Amino acid sequence: MYFGVFQELRKLNMPGSVDFDLYEGYYSEFYEAITSRTDYDIALILEQAKQQADGGKVLELACGSGRILMHLANRGFSVVGLDLSGDMLKICRTKQAQLPARLSSRIEVVQGDMTEFTLPERYPLIVLSATSISLLREIEDFKRMLETVERHLAPGGRFIFDYVLSNQSHNSEYRGGRINSVTLNLGPDHKQFVLIGEEENLQQQSAVMNFYAEVIQSGETRRIFGSTFKKFFAEEDIMGAIAESPFRIAESRMYTLEGDENVRCLILERGAESYE
Ligand SMILES: C[S@@+](CC[C@H](N)C(=O)[O-])C[C@H]1O[C@@H](n2cnc3c(N)ncnc32)[C@H](O)[C@@H]1O
Repeated sequence: MYFGVFQELRKLNMPGSVDFDLYEGYYSEFYEAITSRTDYDIALILEQAKQQADGGKVLELACGSGRILMHLANRGFSVVGLDLSGDMLKICRTKQAQLPARLSSRIEVVQGDMTEFTLPERYPLIVLSATSISLLREIEDFKRMLETVERHLAPGGRFIFDYVLSNQSHNSEYRGGRINSVTLNLGPDHKQFVLIGEEENLQQQSAVMNFYAEVIQSGETRRIFGSTFKKFFAEEDIMGAIAESPFRIAESRMYTLEGDENVRCLILERGAESYE
């Protein structure tokens, strides 16, 4: 789970060392801090929500701490967010509680697995953004997710998701063994830094991201190790899974993110034959 310098540091078993997934504990807060202003996907999601979900609810899979849910609620949409991580949902609920009642009443969150969930409603728009498909391990998981999404779409409904193009060098800023760091000086007696690295497995088209944080406060040091796995599905596998499903591609858009990461966003709808 850890590589290189992260593995060496973890082996030292220094006092105060703990481990988390990227979306748990300390790293759920860290994720929120570094991504809350991401907005490459907002315009498209709002455009599709206006077109599809006028008066209906939008379901966001892997909603995390609610970045997209808040944008949608702010524009008048009712939203349901689903996420596996209780810690990410806790941050989302805290943010929701700080909103005016007319906005917070439009947001509902539930804990669940995006590949297999059962919700009581059907939605005109279902969204999976932030290239979160890479958190699935196998293409079979993606196929199961498509089946689950299909069961939850209202007639004429659409499913939007995006992915990093696998022939690109993703997160190039972390490549070549380079470790990036984020340093936060929170006052004379409260400092922290986080080291971030990524190791790619080209053969398996996957990567592992590692994190090491030290939080120094009131004379104590917490050492927090983090890790997350990412799978970069080959586009032909994604297209193959869609071809086997009742969906067809209605639209496709491309984005170039920071670090020259190329992302494709697909908008799926059910083919006419699946209504027969
Ligand atoms: C990259 S974050 C995206 C969060 C949010 N959508 C955003 O755009 O800021 C990925 C999220 O996927 C969640 N996640 C990972 N695996 C999941 C699964 N199998 N089912 C549901 N959520 C999952 C994580 O807990 C995390 O909150």
